[in-house]
Amino acid sequence: MKPVNVGILGLGTVGGGTVNVLKRNAEEIARRAGRDIVVARASARDLGRSRICDTQGMALTTDPFEIVNDPDIDVIVELIGGCDLAKQLVLTAIANGKQVVTANKALIALHGNEVFAEASRKGVMVLFEAAVAGGIPIIKALREGLAGNRIQWLAGIINGTGNYILSEMRDKGRDFDDVLKEAQALGYAEADPSFDVEGIDAGHKLTILASIAFGIPLQFDKVYTEGISQITRLDVEYAEALGYRIKNLGIARKTETGIELRVHPTLIPKRRLIANVDGVMNAVLVCGDAVGPTLYYGAGAGADPTASAVVADLVDVVRAMTCDPENRVPHLAFQPDAIVDIPVLPVDRIETAYYLRLTAEDKPGVLADVTRILAAHHISIEALIQKEPAKGEIQVPVILLTQRTLEKEMNAAIADIEALATVSGKVARIRMETLG
Ligand code: HSE
Repeated sequence: MKPVNVGILGLGTVGGGTVNVLKRNAEEIARRAGRDIVVARASARDLGRSRICDTQGMALTTDPFEIVNDPDIDVIVELIGGCDLAKQLVLTAIANGKQVVTANKALIALHGNEVFAEASRKGVMVLFEAAVAGGIPIIKALREGLAGNRIQWLAGIINGTGNYILSEMRDKGRDFDDVLKEAQALGYAEADPSFDVEGIDAGHKLTILASIAFGIPLQFDKVYTEGISQITRLDVEYAEALGYRIKNLGIARKTETGIELRVHPTLIPKRRLIANVDGVMNAVLVCGDAVGPTLYYGAGAGADPTASAVVADLVDVVRAMTCDPENRVPHLAFQPDAIVDIPVLPVDRIETAYYLRLTAEDKPGVLADVTRILAAHHISIEALIQKEPAKGEIQVPVILLTQRTLEKEMNAAIADIEALATVSGKVARIRMETLG
């Protein structure tokens, strides 16, 4: 059978890795796909740059539009990232009847509804396994492997940079900024590192996972995001002492009133497998009503791991090129006319447990005031520790773990606690999940 001609847009880390994996495993890949997959053309901003891959045999250009408009190219692999140019290129490729594979999480999270509608209209596929958790086949697991389940919730460590920072703070007592610089040097961090540390990158990925899990439209604007930049070494240590780890989690949960979509630092019990996912590794825990909890773990970034996902999509595209569009696996797992608008809850309506750290005067009645405020807001205390005052100090750190409550109640309780004359500064609050 005639080989499939692929055009790659972007020959950076993931583009280079994709070329390498396609070459290295060409024989096995062809045995799986049923046809040879040939990278006929590729675009890069700077053709003179040294690369991790051999570009021999490919026609190179600096103009990606030449490739999406080339009638001899069957499949476009979009690996340039960002939104504006990538969207134009992908929509042009679709308009030209080409199949598309992309690793672009921002593009899918922000413009996926439009892109998929166009793809369905033209009868082409847009696959995006590499957009979430790098090499972990989580999209395929959710879309196909768990298709018999009602997904109840999922929780993932889906930003390797953030996880690396938290792991190093805990294991080596290192400071935030110092570790971030190292993650950037390792090539894991986003071009704008605030995407990693403020939860935006994880928010993009969570948006995609939630749509596929629950059959809802992609709606990044409704995701609550909170970064890890406020986490101090003290919180990391206190959490450890109480038997918890702090992980930056993306959480999607279906409740009776709507869907919780949130990214924030979270205390989770140390004994959970996911609490032990360290460094740049990613993991996603998915709970289905039939299967129960399932855990997917692996490299969330890097040339070869991300290429593994890109190439798997290429194989799927090639296999499906001959079957009619209605019989393919739908982009968001559910048939396009079966996507439903379940409300996404505002963050003050989420329900979770909390870790609170406050600085209070070390004198009788102070803790009683704090616990009275929590009781008034129907918040039950799970554990409480008060540290020794430092020499010469009259103030002490107090750490409280609470049971689950509505965020709205907690906001009100924190405001009341901060108003106490005996409590100074802000109350540090980290949400807590048992993931049981
Ligand atoms: N910046 C991302 C991360 C890269 O750290 O996980 C992979 O999407």
